[in-house]
Amino acid sequence: MPSRYKKNRVHIFSTLDSLNAFAFEKWIEVLEYAILKRGRFAVALSGGKTPIDLYKRLAGSKKPLPWNKTHIFIVDERFVPFEHDQSNFLMIDQTLLSQIKIPEENIHPVSTEENSPENSALKYEQDLTSFFKLKPGEFPKFDLILLGIGEDGHTASLFPDSELLSETRRMAVQVSHADTLINERITLTLPVINNSKNIIFLASGSGKSAVLKDIVENSDSALPSALVKPKEGKLFFLLDEGAGSLLTKP
Ligand code: 6PG
Repeated sequence: MPSRYKKNRVHIFSTLDSLNAFAFEKWIEVLEYAILKRGRFAVALSGGKTPIDLYKRLAGSKKPLPWNKTHIFIVDERFVPFEHDQSNFLMIDQTLLSQIKIPEENIHPVSTEENSPENSALKYEQDLTSFFKLKPGEFPKFDLILLGIGEDGHTASLFPDSELLSETRRMAVQVSHADTLINERITLTLPVINNSKNIIFLASGSGKSAVLKDIVENSDSALPSALVKPKEGKLFFLLDEGAGSLLTKP
C-alpha cells in the first residue's frame, strides 16, 4: 500500500505493514549505495517498541542481505547489563542480531560493563573514533540512523530541556537521572545524528500526533526530535495514520 501523504519527507501509511515495508526498502536502497561507494554500511539503531517489526522483517528477509558488510551501532543505551529487560541491545539482539549471520566484529554495542555511564560513553566514543577513523573534532558519518519519537518529543535519549541538546563537541554522552525517569543512559549526540547521510524517524500511534505536528510543522520547535536537522543528509518521517493524524495534509 503506497503512502497516502508525501510532503517532502513525511510519509503516512494506512498500515504498520506498509510502513515497515517502505522502511525495509529504504534500508536496502541506502545499504546498496553505501556498499557501492564505501564497501560497507554503517547504521545506528534505536530501542523502543516501534522499530521491532522492522528488525524482525530484516531478520526474516528472503532477499539475502550483506550482513558481512553491515556494521550495527546503537543510538542510545540504558546503563544496565545486556541481559536486563531495559537493555536496548537485548531487544535488538533478540529481534535481529541473533537471527542473522553477522560477524561479531560488525556489532558495536555501547559497553555497559564500564564502572560508570560516563566511562561507557567515553569507551563508545573510542569505538566510534576508531571505526570511522576520525581526526580530532570530526564526527562519525553514519549511512543511516533509525530514530523513534517519545510522546514528549524526545529521541534517542535526548529529552526536552536537557542541556545535552546544546552539546557541540561530544559524540556520546551520559544521560543523568535528572533527564530520565528510569536508568541512567548513554546516547549519541545531535552533532552525530545530524551528520548522518540518512535519518529515518519511525512513529506510530495517535499519542504522538501532537508532538509530531510541532516537530514537522513548527520550524521553531525546541523539541529534541525537531532539532534533528541533518546537515547534508536526508530526513524521513515514516508514520502511521494515528501519529500523522494532526499534520496539515497537502
Ligand atoms: C529508547 C529509545 C527511545 C525510543 C522512543 C520511542 O532508548 O527507548 O531510543 O528514544 O525511540 O522512546 O519509543 P517507542 O518506539 O517504544 O514508542
